[in-house]
Amino acid sequence: MATTASASGKVILFGEHAVVYGRPAIAVPVAELRAWATVADAPPGAGCTVLAADLNRRLSLADAPPDDPLALIVRLTLGELGIVAEPDWTITLRSDIPIAGGLGSGAAVSTAIVRALAQHAGRPLSPDVISGLVYETERLHHGTPSGIDNTVVAYERPVYFVRGQPPQPLSVGADFWLAIADSGVASPTRVVVGDVRRAWQAETARYDTLFDEMGGIAEAARQAIETGAVAELGPLMDENQRLLAAINVSSPLLDELCAAARQAGAGGAKLSGAGRGGNVITLVTPQTAQEVAAALRASRTTEVIITQVKQEGRVQPRTTMDS
Ligand code: MEV
Repeated sequence: MATTASASGKVILFGEHAVVYGRPAIAVPVAELRAWATVADAPPGAGCTVLAADLNRRLSLADAPPDDPLALIVRLTLGELGIVAEPDWTITLRSDIPIAGGLGSGAAVSTAIVRALAQHAGRPLSPDVISGLVYETERLHHGTPSGIDNTVVAYERPVYFVRGQPPQPLSVGADFWLAIADSGVASPTRVVVGDVRRAWQAETARYDTLFDEMGGIAEAARQAIETGAVAELGPLMDENQRLLAAINVSSPLLDELCAAARQAGAGGAKLSGAGRGGNVITLVTPQTAQEVAAALRASRTTEVIITQVKQEGRVQPRTTMDS
């Protein structure tokens, strides 16, 4: 018997980095980008093995060190499911999500693993529990994660997030579209977050002011998203990008991609995630999307995805996300 589950990637719309320091941020899932995990029964005595062809890895759970992220998420999930003896299962992973691209690949792979293991055991887990388990692996990947990545991926819905508080679902008042462009430069979150921390320690007052401004933008964006004032999002993205450049997490290439998108008709553009590399997100419409995508491709972008952030009538704003 085999069980397959998947999880989406994500983009941070507003507030990356500032969210690590307690300011609000907004993230949305990207359904077009997914990671999959398949759990299959193996012959008795085979033990539990993780096969990650994309990473060129074959991992035996019994032999894996405690700080291996894949082994950790499997062990944590088995513990949560009350499975004490190592099961004879093979877990096969596949992912469309570029690694170190700011699109939540680590959180998505971990979430897919938890979902597949839970379903295979016949005990589906709630998004809240999944998010908590995935957070533990994010700590290995990132050091001091805010928790936004595991939250948006585990709940798979737009989220307004403040570190240490229950995540709040964001109701989307009107559909909007993003063109997401991969700079092709891998940029591990841990490194960039560590650099920002050192800079914050050296210049705390200046960085706190910049983080406050980013938090204000996330608040304004929340209003705009909830009320369907989509046109307001573009200038807010541009302003957030200016602040991200001020904390030194942009790069000439990311600035160039943002400028090319704006010139081709995007309403606004910014980097998304840790920065220095990874992806930029640009606000487009069905009318401007193809032109913006063409301009981004012409500017050394390796890939462009158009995604729609959909109105979700059933989500009530400003409540706790509990299902
Ligand atoms: C990474 O996707 C977002 C950061 O804000 C780090 C974090 O929130 O943990 C850069």
